[in-house]
Amino acid sequence: MNNSIVPLINIAPFLHGGADDKARVAAEVDRACREIGFLVVSGHDVPAALIDAMHGMSDDYFALPHWEKMRHKIPADRLRVNLPGRERNCLDLAYHIFVIPTAFLDAARGGAVTFEHFERLPPPELDSVEKVIAYGQGVREDFAAWWRAGIVPGTVNTYYGVQPAQGVMERTAWHAAQHCRQLMEVVAQSGYAPDGPLGEAELAGLPLPDEIYDDEVPMNAKAANG
Ligand SMILES: [Fe+2]
Repeated sequence: MNNSIVPLINIAPFLHGGADDKARVAAEVDRACREIGFLVVSGHDVPAALIDAMHGMSDDYFALPHWEKMRHKIPADRLRVNLPGRERNCLDLAYHIFVIPTAFLDAARGGAVTFEHFERLPPPELDSVEKVIAYGQGVREDFAAWWRAGIVPGTVNTYYGVQPAQGVMERTAWHAAQHCRQLMEVVAQSGYAPDGPLGEAELAGLPLPDEIYDDEVPMNAKAANG
């Protein structure tokens, strides 16, 4: 067998022939698997429409955004792995990232940014990558709808007093951004390239620490700023 060519093996004799035919095809498959490791089969009776449908589904899958495909690669148990030097795991952090804008929205709608927001842990039912993504997507849509409505209060209530809404919104941005940097690092260390990572343009002007695992700026810091 030419071991530089993937063999094309007609298996129709195996499916429809006698014992000798089956033995001959089996020997061909055996040799292909031992010498090449791959083979292509013909005469398999799989309907062409089914093959086309399978190719179509493959094309659709590989056309998905990178992050969408990644969620099929990250097993749920990875969510419970703690971040370096932290008592917080990836699931807690992913949830926390979306609680940050939730806290701001609550305040912008007449409530307040509270300590309780930032101490929240993911509810038990949020136990898979898919559910975390769906939860986050809901928050994103909620925030976008609020922004489109164009009703931005001048001030909002927070646990550090009444503050200009603009400043609290900036804190919301850098607080979430810092944690996104940490999650991006987890993704990178897992062997994946973050899709659409936050870069200099997105982070410009935000008061972020140099290192992604620098201690977080205390939540009551920069209160004058918002
Ligand atoms: Fe935080």
